[in-house]
Amino acid sequence: MDSFLRCLQKVELHVHIEGTMEPDLLFKLAKRNNITLPFKDINELKEIYANFNDLKSFLDVLEKECSVLITSEDFYDLAWAYFQRVAADNVRHCEVFVDIHAHINRGVSLKCQFDGLIRACQKATKEINMTTALLLSFLRDESEQSALDILDKALEYREYFIGIGLESNEINNPPSKFIRLYKKAHELGLHCVAHAGEEGSSSYIKEALDLLKVERIDHGIHCIDDPILLKQIAQSQIPLTMCPLSNLKLKVVKKIHDLPLKLFLENHIRVTINSDDPAYFDGYILANFYAIQEAFQLSIQDWVQLTQNAIYAAFISNERRQELL
Ligand code: ADE
Ligand code: ZN
Repeated sequence: MDSFLRCLQKVELHVHIEGTMEPDLLFKLAKRNNITLPFKDINELKEIYANFNDLKSFLDVLEKECSVLITSEDFYDLAWAYFQRVAADNVRHCEVFVDIHAHINRGVSLKCQFDGLIRACQKATKEINMTTALLLSFLRDESEQSALDILDKALEYREYFIGIGLESNEINNPPSKFIRLYKKAHELGLHCVAHAGEEGSSSYIKEALDLLKVERIDHGIHCIDDPILLKQIAQSQIPLTMCPLSNLKLKVVKKIHDLPLKLFLENHIRVTINSDDPAYFDGYILANFYAIQEAFQLSIQDWVQLTQNAIYAAFISNERRQELL
C-alpha cells in the first residue's frame, strides 16, 4: 500500500506557502536578511513544533518565522523548494495560499511577493510538469476593510491568482464579518474558499456556505455536529479540504482515528486530504496519506475516490481535469 500511495497522482488544495518553510531555509533566510530570530537552532524549533496547544500557539510561531521573508528571492526560494519537494511525491497540481494580508502588514509589497512566487510557479510548470495556482489568504482577525483595501491593490496582479481564502484565529471571527469581501471577490470572478469549522463550530461552516457562498470549505470537520448541514454539504457536493496531521498537531483531534473521514466517505462528501503547514506538522501530503492509511486502513477504491474528489474540487480547466483523471 505504501508504494501505491507514493505513486498515486496527487492534487494538493490546502497548503500555506509560509507553512512549507523548513528550518534550514528559515535560518538561511534569517542570515541572508540579517534578522535575529527568537529561536536558537533546529532542535529548539522541533521542540516547539512538538508542543503546540492549539491554532493560536502555532500562528504565533508562524508569524515570527515569516519575518525572514523580505525579498522576492525569499518567496521564490520558499515556493520552489516546496514544489520540488512535493513533485517527488507525485503531486501534479497544487493550489497554494499566500498570506498576503500578513506580509503587507509587515511592510512587504505585493510586487515583491508575486514576483518571487510567480517565478517559482512558472518554473514548476516548465521544469517539473506541475500546475500551480495562488489563492490570496486574508486574516480573519483583521478588519474586513483592510482585506478589501488589499484585494483592491492586488487587482494590479489579477492574472497571477485565482481566488481568495480566509485564515487565522477562527473563534470570534465568524465568516459573517467578511460578507462584503466575498461579494466583491465573486463580482471579480475569483474563486472563493474559507477556513471554517477547524476550531470554530459548525455554524461557521454554515455561514461560509450561506453568506460567503464559498466553493470549498477548508477543514470543515465540525460539520459532523449538525446533521442538516452534513446533508447540505453532501447534496451540494461542496468539497472539504481535510488536513489530518494539522488537526492532530493543533489538538483539534486527539488522534487521527477521531477524524470523521469514514463518515464523510460513507455520505459521499467530497473530502480531500491535504497538508496545511507541512514543515510545522511533521509531513507533506504523502505523510498525511500514510497517517490516514495507518488509522483507517482504507481500500484502494477509497483512495481512488479521495483522489477523484481532489481533481473534482480543483480550480482547473476541464482539459487539465481530464489529464489528471
Ligand atoms: N494559517 C495557516 N494554517 C492555518 C490553519 N490551519 N488554520 C487557520 N489559519 C492558518
Ligand atoms: Zn490552513
